[in-house]
Amino acid sequence: MSFPPTTTPHAPARQPDTWPALLVTGGCGFIGSRFVERWRAAHPAQPVVVLDSLTYAGRPENLAGLWGPALHLEVASITDADAVRRVCDQYGVGGIVNFAAQTHVDQSILGSLEFTHTNVLGTHTLLEVARERGIHLHQVSTDEVYGDVPAPHHSLETDPLTPRSPYAASKAAADHLVLAYHQTHGSSVTVTRAANNVGPRQHLEKALALFATNALLGLPLPLYGDGLQQRDYMHVDDHCAAIELVLRGGASGGVFNVGTGLELSNRRMAQLVTQALGLPDAPVRHVSDRPGHDRRYSLNTDRVQALGWAPDFTPEQAVLSAARWYAANRAWWEPIRRSEAFAAYYERQYAARLGAS
Ligand code: DAU
Repeated sequence: MSFPPTTTPHAPARQPDTWPALLVTGGCGFIGSRFVERWRAAHPAQPVVVLDSLTYAGRPENLAGLWGPALHLEVASITDADAVRRVCDQYGVGGIVNFAAQTHVDQSILGSLEFTHTNVLGTHTLLEVARERGIHLHQVSTDEVYGDVPAPHHSLETDPLTPRSPYAASKAAADHLVLAYHQTHGSSVTVTRAANNVGPRQHLEKALALFATNALLGLPLPLYGDGLQQRDYMHVDDHCAAIELVLRGGASGGVFNVGTGLELSNRRMAQLVTQALGLPDAPVRHVSDRPGHDRRYSLNTDRVQALGWAPDFTPEQAVLSAARWYAANRAWWEPIRRSEAFAAYYERQYAARLGAS
């Protein structure tokens, strides 16, 4: 399937700033909470509703100090159509930004039904409710839908989707649904496909957060395979700024890649993390590789740049700044590291790998 070739990325009239309320699904997670923080600062009078099922990665503490008359928390899953309908009607929601998803590739290798349930059925549910009520839906997607991208190609929004992990497949399926609703029903939708985000409050299962906290605890950094996989490590603020622009000015049915266009190897990322923490060496341990591990992602971002977006951080700057945040915010991550749930995941994911290396 090929997607509508959004020849002009500009949309005539969408004014999210005047919507009676904005619904942010998954707003207690890493990227969603940063988006909410920024939106609240820019629109202090506009009600924002966060719908979050508060599974392991969503934490209301991520928005501590912001909850109040203009920022509401509704605890429900995006797969719960009745809850989504009620919230949209109660607050007069004019638009939805969908961050709610199961996002970790390794978790999708350990078990992936929950990924299909949340990412596919959940997005489908939002599309249905948005269609019934004439609400705009912005879908937060990922560069992983393009699959492995051999150099020197940079993925275009019109490239075929060839996802290679259950996580990426579920996000690709959701993208197909979003764009199909636009074609078939005329639903107002936009999609951003972003590179690897790093920054404050990322869950510790992700590579940078895991490496930084392991280094701070004197534990090895488990680098999969040869560690030469390439990722575009982008600062979460740059991603949120792009979503804000697309929400305002992205043509309906438009897909927009978001990334710096630069890549780092994971080995280099690990070195930068330890450099940021002032440690002499990266205590890297090469461990067995992730099955189906994509070697490289890389995005062409001409379309989002045409809306006026440019990143403020290079991948090096983003990694250094994110790693420093973990050094300065132990109170945020230490309880997660000590939790039974994280200990069980760490054991399952790393015990044999680290034992065998
Ligand atoms: O590219 C965007 C995607 O970035 C998002 O859609 C995903 O939700 C997000 O999880 C992330 O996916 P990755 O698989 O690239 O991120 P992760 O942090 O899991 O891994 C980054 C790289 O580091 C990847 O090449 C795998 C490697 N890695 C990861 C872990 C957790 C290791 O070498 N060791 C590890 O322990």
